[in-house]
Amino acid sequence: MDKTTRFTVISFCQQAWASRGVCAETAPRSSKEIRAISNLYLFNGTLAAIAWDELRYDCTGKTIFHPELMGNLSESNTKTIFPGEVFADTAQFDRGIRTLLPRYDEMLDAIARCAGTVLEPAAQNGTAKILELGCGTGELTRQLLSRYRQVEVVAVDYSARMLQTAQTKMAAEGYENRVRWIEADFGAWANGENEELTAAIGGGIHASVSTLAIHHLSDEMKQKLLGRICQSLQPGGCFFNADPTLPENDAVARLHESIREEWAASQGTTMEAVRAQIGNSQPYGYSGKDCLATLTDQLQMLKLAGFNPVTVPWKYYNLAIYGGFVPTR
Ligand SMILES: C[S@@+](CC[C@H](N)C(=O)[O-])C[C@H]1O[C@@H](n2cnc3c(N)ncnc32)[C@H](O)[C@@H]1O
Repeated sequence: MDKTTRFTVISFCQQAWASRGVCAETAPRSSKEIRAISNLYLFNGTLAAIAWDELRYDCTGKTIFHPELMGNLSESNTKTIFPGEVFADTAQFDRGIRTLLPRYDEMLDAIARCAGTVLEPAAQNGTAKILELGCGTGELTRQLLSRYRQVEVVAVDYSARMLQTAQTKMAAEGYENRVRWIEADFGAWANGENEELTAAIGGGIHASVSTLAIHHLSDEMKQKLLGRICQSLQPGGCFFNADPTLPENDAVARLHESIREEWAASQGTTMEAVRAQIGNSQPYGYSGKDCLATLTDQLQMLKLAGFNPVTVPWKYYNLAIYGGFVPTR
């Protein structure tokens, strides 16, 4: 069977093209100048194509349009994105995430309700403040703003592409005056390494939430982030995270995978087809590829950070919402 394989190489440059018989004139301009992360595609073991971000070239330096040569490679496989952006094309996120993850909408609804346990009483005395980490295209932001009228959201994300989409959507709904968008790495905030960012996020936060973002941090950084969140919340405040968790053994991992396959089938597609839309994410800032931790370990981290009690109000196979409250004294 024909097989296409992708390799990621760093500092690929014009000499490499030359060594494969591609002359400098036909090699893409960028190959002469840019030493960056690129992808090599081998077709049945032979170099077939080279890619820089969105652009793919065949071995003669021409842009690729050859479906047979590229096999099942879609445009998205070759675009470099930040961890957590998921899809090469940001416009695909809202639809794609609902196919990729079972019960995404139910999960957002549940985490918004969890935050409401603190937001609703706080809003009786004025505007309540909620910090959302990794807001992405603003699907949860919208839930929070529509559900709780007396709430201001501080929404953090390091991806300008995702923030732009979120901003446009919230403006269309008339919510722009109730959100502060901050383009920043929440790992940097956890480390307190940027005073401007610390000041921008501020304190006096009633509730904090995050969905599908924190699992990109190392366990050490997760712990630091939880500590930072706990310190920044008001007494009685709460934090909830919705994230995939690490399966406890191979049998559980297979179970989770089969659930996702079933879900994709119920949406009229397959996991393979959905995964073909996923971009080529490269570590950025404090985030890397998925770094899952078991639910048990994450509850332990919450306790260590100072949350008490900690709780798991929602779970669907490996997707869980877990969090806790800041003690009042
Ligand atoms: C899978 S998306 C989820 C977006 C949204 N929370 C949702 O559930 O639809 C993860 C988001 O986290 C952001 N992200 C990942 N790591 C981050 C970091 N270290 N700092 C800031 N944003 C980060 C990504 O840019 C992306 O928008």
